[in-house]
Amino acid sequence: MNIPVKIAGIGFKVPETVITNEDLTKIIDTSDEWIKTRTGIEKRHVLSGNETAVDMGIGAAKNALSKSKIEPEKIDYIIAAASLETHVYPSSACEIQAAIGAVNAACFDITAACSGLIYGMGIAKALINSGMAKNVLIVATDAISRCLDWTDRASCVLFGDGAGAMMITVSDDEQDDILSIDLKAEGHLGHFIQMPTPGKNCPLAAPNEEAKMFVKMDGKEVYKYVVTKLPGYIEECVQKSGLKMNEIDYLVPHQANMRIIEALEKRLDFNPENVISNIKEYANTSAASIPIALTEAIESGKIKLPCSAILTGFGAGMTVGTTVVRLREGIA
Ligand code: ACO
Repeated sequence: MNIPVKIAGIGFKVPETVITNEDLTKIIDTSDEWIKTRTGIEKRHVLSGNETAVDMGIGAAKNALSKSKIEPEKIDYIIAAASLETHVYPSSACEIQAAIGAVNAACFDITAACSGLIYGMGIAKALINSGMAKNVLIVATDAISRCLDWTDRASCVLFGDGAGAMMITVSDDEQDDILSIDLKAEGHLGHFIQMPTPGKNCPLAAPNEEAKMFVKMDGKEVYKYVVTKLPGYIEECVQKSGLKMNEIDYLVPHQANMRIIEALEKRLDFNPENVISNIKEYANTSAASIPIALTEAIESGKIKLPCSAILTGFGAGMTVGTTVVRLREGIA
């Protein structure tokens, strides 16, 4: 059985509170100039008060659902790609299920950091292609601002909060919208980006060294890894799609650093006009960065539908996910 899939709707949600580079100069030794030239980031949206990643996820899920015109009760699975859940359990997917009334969905979370959306798409495609599901909702939601060391200028300036969602369903024609998908992991490079979880041993056992739940990143190594490895991985995925690089309309990369995006664009010889970036406004929103960039570019008319696109993400793990998709009219 190989039932084709359709990308039926996408949406996003970001918190209202905006922190500019200039604002950050009040708490760390940095400058707007340094952040802009090294990363392309000008501002980021962050959670405030008791807002949570799940709240953003619910907003993004509702937006994607309304575009897809699929009733919540028809959803078979909700997959939340989340690095910092509101609770370890219940899962974010279960919390989102309750809020949107997807009473018939099985729910679980995955952790693939910034590759989370693409990993979720791989699972959704397999579930639908095999006949196990008809409707799968992926919600990529990350609240990285809650686990940054706001005294570490090398990492805290890079991230923002946000959520993006994608509804994938059975195709109503013969076209499979996910032409190719390629997921990779290189666990031996896990030390490049880490977020430890705190926790104390049983008082009757030897005490452990307690970790602080902060993102720790070797930015230089991540940078080198991505610019040397990712272009080849993207080329492999494009080859599997049956299209040629110059036949693909848009490149929507994970928004981690403008210099990385420009390096990819050059190495793949992609028309800069068709490379999507909104890092300036949102910084790195982890798993949410690709669906936010994609939805926003469609809504603003920068991406014209129907079209083909490469979506590619990389993140802690190290994980990498790339997919070549066809995007139909009306999805955002
Ligand atoms: N403001 C001012 N100066 C700073 C700041 C800051 N915010 N941060 C670092 N510096 C200083 C450093 O201390 C260093 O000073 P020194 O030369 O006196 O020692 C200098 O700037 C240069 O620092 P580098 O680390 O060499 O700067 P680099 O040009 O490598 O840029 C950056 C750092 C932006 C982090 C870059 O390496 C990068 O973007 N890497 C990729 C990160 C990435 O993609 N992460 C993905 C995460 S995805 C996920 O799964 C969470």
